[in-house]
Amino acid sequence: MAKTKTTFFCQNCGTQYAKWVGQCSACKEWNTVVEEVVQKAEKKAWKSSYEPTRKRAKPVRVKEISTEKEERLDTIDLEFNRVLGGGLVPGSLVLLGGEPGVGKSTLLLQIALKLPYKTLYVSGEESQKQIKMRADRIYPNSDTCLILTETKTQNIFQQIEATEPDIVVIDSIQTLHSDYIESAAGSISQIRECTAELIKFAKETNTPVILIGHITKDGSIAGPKILEHMVDTVLQFEGDRNYVYRILRALKNRFGSTAELGIYEMQGGGLRQVNNPSEILISKNDEGLSGTAIASTVEGMRPLMIEIQALVSTAVYGTPQRSTTGYNAKRLNMLLAVLEKRAGFKLGAKDVFLNITGGISVDDPAIDLAVIAAILSSNADIPIEKGVCFAAEVGLAGEIRPVQRIEQRILEAEKLGFKTIYVSKNNKIGLKSTRISVQLASRIEDVVEELFG
Ligand code: TYD
Ligand code: MG
Repeated sequence: MAKTKTTFFCQNCGTQYAKWVGQCSACKEWNTVVEEVVQKAEKKAWKSSYEPTRKRAKPVRVKEISTEKEERLDTIDLEFNRVLGGGLVPGSLVLLGGEPGVGKSTLLLQIALKLPYKTLYVSGEESQKQIKMRADRIYPNSDTCLILTETKTQNIFQQIEATEPDIVVIDSIQTLHSDYIESAAGSISQIRECTAELIKFAKETNTPVILIGHITKDGSIAGPKILEHMVDTVLQFEGDRNYVYRILRALKNRFGSTAELGIYEMQGGGLRQVNNPSEILISKNDEGLSGTAIASTVEGMRPLMIEIQALVSTAVYGTPQRSTTGYNAKRLNMLLAVLEKRAGFKLGAKDVFLNITGGISVDDPAIDLAVIAAILSSNADIPIEKGVCFAAEVGLAGEIRPVQRIEQRILEAEKLGFKTIYVSKNNKIGLKSTRISVQLASRIEDVVEELFG
């Protein structure tokens, strides 16, 4: 009898060991190293019925390489297309990661249902009935989408050969298992093998494959890091489950920029594309409320107006509380220290709560000035005038620093009808004339004087 070969893998980072160890020396996690049975495959899982396309490669002069624009498959979904860099590239492997319940299956099922191409949606997580119920809510009469509930890659390839789909969606890579590896589905070696088989299939037949991947509790995609290296594009679907907005961004993209961003709204009938995100993120109350300020930020390549709410109140307990939603707490502490030291506001004995509305999180430093304005507005209980917004970073010396893409931010504010925008004096602004009044400031005091003076 052939000896079964086993190896030890860290389930957290995928490092391989010859024997068991208590702590992974690569990622320093304890008790993550697990023994897995691996067996050499005698034959390859995906046996192409086509002629082998891979010829022996020869070096070519750069200028002789054909620069024809590679065609892309339009996914009908504008936001998805944009994040991919203009559509699906034939033969590419896309990995979509995200928290459980954020809407990964919904997004891909919705795309699969609406596509004009023949799509094979393989689910190892839900039954056909469950998928049907979901499909009925999203887009009931699709006749191009085939549903397959299967987890064994060999069977999936058999069905692929029988149906010849134009696009394959796998929900999820962690549920797949291959006969050539004996360890359980979801283990490091299974994920690696199944992905390798799918890559081989995608490249040989020029069919795009979209994989759904689970993420671990720290937010990275579950399985070996090598999974992210193997695929062409890694997308992340994020958003607070308690809010309706979802953001799709590319973490890696071999065929486009990673700066693009897609925004969706979760509704009863699936995900709706949001084309004008700024309008939904700003609440439309006419009476001025103290403690809110609007910032003009840039997420990826897209300008976005967001609303910041602050609440400053006298601390009831000994230690004042500082709490943030959607914003870096350390950054808040830094801004409070700047306000205390440079502008003379005594906030040391106050509780400060900060919230970015809409459930999105922002780490663009250009919202600093709006954060400060919201805090001071709440502290003084004076609302900021309607039609005022901010786009500037605040430095440790209390100086107002320039930010990148200022023109884009100003134009977005203007488009949404803002009347005044505060920016840094040091920002070089190339805009000729704008309807919006651009206020140049160099120190926090200048802005405070203007707003609450
Ligand atoms: P799902 O796609 O199952 O999440 P994932 O695959 O990322 O785990 O999304 C599930 C959530 O989406 C669920 O909580 C309900 C919600 N949802 C809607 O609000 N409207 C809909 O039309 C659908 C299909 C789901
Ligand atoms: Mg799912």
